[in-house]
Amino acid sequence: MDIQELKVKSFVTKYNKEKKALISILQNIQEEYNYLPQEALRIVSETLNIPLINIIGVATFYRAFSLEPRGKHLVTVCMGTACHVRGGPKILEEFERKLNIQAGETTKDKQFSLEIVACLGCCAIGPVVVVDGDYYAQTTIRKVGSILKKYMKIKKKNESN
Ligand code: FES
Repeated sequence: MDIQELKVKSFVTKYNKEKKALISILQNIQEEYNYLPQEALRIVSETLNIPLINIIGVATFYRAFSLEPRGKHLVTVCMGTACHVRGGPKILEEFERKLNIQAGETTKDKQFSLEIVACLGCCAIGPVVVVDGDYYAQTTIRKVGSILKKYMKIKKKNESN
């Protein structure tokens, strides 16, 4: 990927090149590219004078960041204890089957990434699935198709504009 150096630098200058703004800068980059490209991290490292290894440490600590390209839509299936006993693994299997990928992977068309999480902190409404920040409570295998369709529709709608 060809990283626009000026764009990355503009994210850094937006926060007055302050080291304490590192997470905000990384959020900007993640939003722009859907992941944190190595080249962008190198630019941030040089501009803020923070060792690259420290930036990668921060990037790998937070789930919101990804060092690998992610799909346009991020599907997160909760596999915490409460969701697990209510059928989380079966729901995950259905997403894997329908998307033809395993957890941790991205579809070939780069539309969907599938991830699991230990607990989303809303166990009472489990099993929980989150897609692009939208929470789906008491998910069942039968709901998986309609959840995915919603985001496939968004794709088609955007393509026709
Ligand atoms: S176990 Fe799924 S939200 Fe807590």
